[in-house]
Order: sequence, then structure tokens, then C-alpha cells
Amino acid sequence: MNVCDAVRQRVSVRAFKPDLPPASLVRGLLEQAARAPSGGNLQPWHVHALAGEPLAQLLARLAAEPPQAEPEYAVYPAELPEPWRTRRWRNGMQLYDVLGIARDDRPARARQMLKNATLFGAPVGVFISVERRMGLPQWMDLGMYAQNLMLLAQEQGLATCPQAYWARCARTVREVLGLPPSRMLALGIALGWADEAAPVNAMRTERDPFEVWGEMRGFANGDQR
Ligand SMILES: Cc1cc2nc3c(=O)[nH]c(=O)nc-3n(C[C@H](O)[C@H](O)[C@H](O)COP(=O)(O)O)c2cc1C
Repeated sequence: MNVCDAVRQRVSVRAFKPDLPPASLVRGLLEQAARAPSGGNLQPWHVHALAGEPLAQLLARLAAEPPQAEPEYAVYPAELPEPWRTRRWRNGMQLYDVLGIARDDRPARARQMLKNATLFGAPVGVFISVERRMGLPQWMDLGMYAQNLMLLAQEQGLATCPQAYWARCARTVREVLGLPPSRMLALGIALGWADEAAPVNAMRTERDPFEVWGEMRGFANGDQR
């Protein structure tokens, strides 16, 4: 698979088969992803991959306790103006449509949201944390690590779902992983083989056209907008 195919084919998968990928395969992905660039080569990511009993214990604990009142960080800005508000809304609606959840069925929507805390049934949970003192540039580095990991997984036929949802469970995850108080949980990534038959995995999200968000100037064949 070339990079183009991996980029095109990667989607967020929200239903997984229970089969556990081999440890060597997961380790290889985690290691190769660290070829990501990072400012000053700080490599600010800390990565825990949980499977089997340790993962089952974490998920059982989360199922038994309510989500944290205050997430680790604000997942979205408090006021989300256009065009982002509509994009987020459409994303939600697309998800509820493929699941057959009525738009006004709040309990069903809440149940779907809570599935985040089960990693959507994925057999592996990858938790990326970072020192609190790190700033925006280092958070960009984490994004590059995460995207590398997801594309490498794609190449191996594995599926992923990046989840900022874990910011709502950070206290428990930090405790279970034994992270020092100086460390923030940035992102969880569900990893495993996609359950191709699950309706939720039929969802394909849109992207706005280049003209909405991009511009090219100074190219030989004229400016492009
Ligand atoms: C940083 C980040 C956080 C995300 N958090 C969640 C999440 O908590 N739960 C979820 O179901 N999807 C989450 N997603 C997936 C997005 O909804 C998804 O990437 C977006 O709708 C585009 O769809 P695609 O990944 O299938 O291309 C997250 C994606 C990113 C990059």
C-alpha cells in the first residue's frame, strides 16, 4: 500500500472484531510511528498500548464510574462559530443516521457516546500522554505521531479511531497507567480489525473543497483558489 492509498482508505472505525493483533505487529506500529517529526526532535509522546486483562480492567472501572465532570482539556472551543459548528453537527448527524438513531433520541445518542469508553470493542487501546508543560508545538508533534500510527495500521489492514473522548476519563486512565501528575492524557486510539459488517463502519465523512480552506499563490500556471 502506498501513502496515497493509506490516506484515502483510513477512516474512523467504531466497531471492531475482538481478535487481538500480535504483540510484535502492534509494537512495530508504535515504534515506526515514532519516525514522526517533532520540533527540536523532542519526541514529546508517551505511549501505552493496553490489551487483554489490563485493558479489560480499565474498561470495567470506567463502566462502573460516571464520566469526569471536567475533561482533561476542552475538546472544542466553548463557542464554536461557523463553519465549524455546522461541520461538527453534520458529523454527528451522519453518525446517528448510519446507526438509525433518531435526531431527537437523546438517550440513544448518549448511549452511543458512552461506547467511546469501550473503545468501540477494539482489542487494543493506545493512550498517548504528554507532559503538561509542553505547549501547542508539542501537541502538533503528538498529532503527527498519531497520524503516522493510524496510516501504518491501515497499511497492515488494521483500523483505528482517534478519540479525544478519553479526556473525559483522564483521571482514571492516569491512575491505572500510573502516570505522574505532571503528565496529561492527550488522546486514546482504538486499534484492531474493523467489523466490516457493522453499519456504523459504513460512514464516510465529507471534506470541504480546497477553495474553502486553501489558496496557492506564485505558481507558474497562475494563482489557484
Ligand atoms: C483529535 C481527534 C479526536 C477525535 N475524537 C473522537 C472521539 O472522541 N470519538 C469518536 O468517535 N471520534 C473521534 N474522532 C474522529 C473524528 O470524528 C473523525 O476523524 C472525523 O469525523 C473525520 O472522519 P474520518 O476519520 O472517518 O475521516 C476524533 C478525531 C481526531 C483527529
